[in-house]
Amino acid sequence: APLDLIVRNARVATASDCFDADIGIQDGRIVQLGQGLRGAARSIDAAGRVVTPGGVDAHCHLDEITSGPVRMADDFDTGSRAAACGGTTTLIPFAAQQRGHSLRAAVEQYRERAAGKAHVDYAFHLIVTDPTPAVLQQELPALIREGFTSFKIYMTYDDMKLDDGQILDVLSVAKAHGALAMIHAENADCIQWLTRRLLAAGRSAPRFHAQSRPMLVEREATHRAIALAELVDTPILIVHVSGREAMEQIRWARALGLQVFAETCPQYLFLTADDLGLDDSYHGARCVCSPPPRDAANQQVVWNGLTEGLFSVFSSDHAPFRMDGSQGKRPEGCEVSFDRIPNGIPGIETRLPLLYSEGVLGGRITLQRFVELTATNPAKAYGLHPRKGSIAIGCDADLVIWQEGERVLRNADLHHNVDYTPYEGRTLRAWPALTLARGQVVWEGQFHPCHGRGQLLECGPSSLVPARRAH
Ligand code: URP
Ligand code: ZN
Ligand code: ZN
Ligand code: ZN
Repeated sequence: APLDLIVRNARVATASDCFDADIGIQDGRIVQLGQGLRGAARSIDAAGRVVTPGGVDAHCHLDEITSGPVRMADDFDTGSRAAACGGTTTLIPFAAQQRGHSLRAAVEQYRERAAGKAHVDYAFHLIVTDPTPAVLQQELPALIREGFTSFKIYMTYDDMKLDDGQILDVLSVAKAHGALAMIHAENADCIQWLTRRLLAAGRSAPRFHAQSRPMLVEREATHRAIALAELVDTPILIVHVSGREAMEQIRWARALGLQVFAETCPQYLFLTADDLGLDDSYHGARCVCSPPPRDAANQQVVWNGLTEGLFSVFSSDHAPFRMDGSQGKRPEGCEVSFDRIPNGIPGIETRLPLLYSEGVLGGRITLQRFVELTATNPAKAYGLHPRKGSIAIGCDADLVIWQEGERVLRNADLHHNVDYTPYEGRTLRAWPALTLARGQVVWEGQFHPCHGRGQLLECGPSSLVPARRAH
């Protein structure tokens, strides 16, 4: 059968190799790799430019239900649009259980929120906030079997956090049914105690968010999460690791042979606590996220962890809240104390170009490592590999053609529905010139919408977890 499309003269980069080839695509899949491919209805000349697998963003929040008047700015339409324009072709946002409701209800609710809207493929992580016997014994095992093979659990946030006993219960289900647990590790009681003291002293500006969540609260919770996983004897992945102290705990666990994986995010490479403000201005609310960005020394330590392999996954943690209006960073239109500012920053479109520019072209990580961190490993971690995250025969034709050259990052050029980027004014050294999602051009300097093109993916077991070693 003839090919639908050939991407010619690609400098193909995978997690293991770099080679020159034409890529032959049929029915949305890669079916040929070779020199001088012929016989396609259409061809695109990559002209010797780098071609990577489309990004897999394994940590992003879209249209998630939040408490009070606050709403996320991006739904599955605008969020997946921004992702595609930034070279990301697979999203794994969250289906969050609300306390008092079933997990099944959450899955149905978020399925509906995505259906007919997403421009790129997606899967869901579950968020377990209410591990009742029904959830633990029936719902979770059934959902894992249906392809929802990962879930996030929180050690902080009043409406989400689980206590240690509940975490042990949930981890036991992960072990019994072969799911992977992602853990948000911060000590809730320490944060609450520090917050009360700061507020009592009149320190309520955004910058005090960082002081209410110092690195030791992350370090302690990271250690505790590791101990709980060790007790149950199951792998975990610690999300959004911000710096040295938590990394030391993870390194220690891995040296013991424990299967503890780690993710970091752009904000820990490119922002510091200073971005939350040097004075009491509310401007800093835009960079309020948890854990908070640390300092320049920790940025360097996080870079080292990306280079050396301490981190397996690099995700955006896109959590979109607008600075204007009344539903985002200013709830009900007000400047609120730091503990009431919605947590999170946007980054779904800037994740890949920032890491390519500063990591690959900045000489800190290899192109192979870039692909591994942004596509191959997230696909493996959440059971989507080899369909997603690689360039090989049989993979989905999710590809990015890169354009090198200097360009200043402006929010006005981005495609999310957030009215700022924390990275405004930064110079990029590369960005996606063209994105293919299952063989269709979704971005070529212009966005090609196709609401509902994105399909819900069924996830298998994690293949990041190696064969078990006796210990
Ligand atoms: O501040 C953050 N990271 N907000 C998003 C929710 C989460 O905890 O990942
Ligand atoms: Zn649209
Ligand atoms: Zn989190
Ligand atoms: Zn998050």
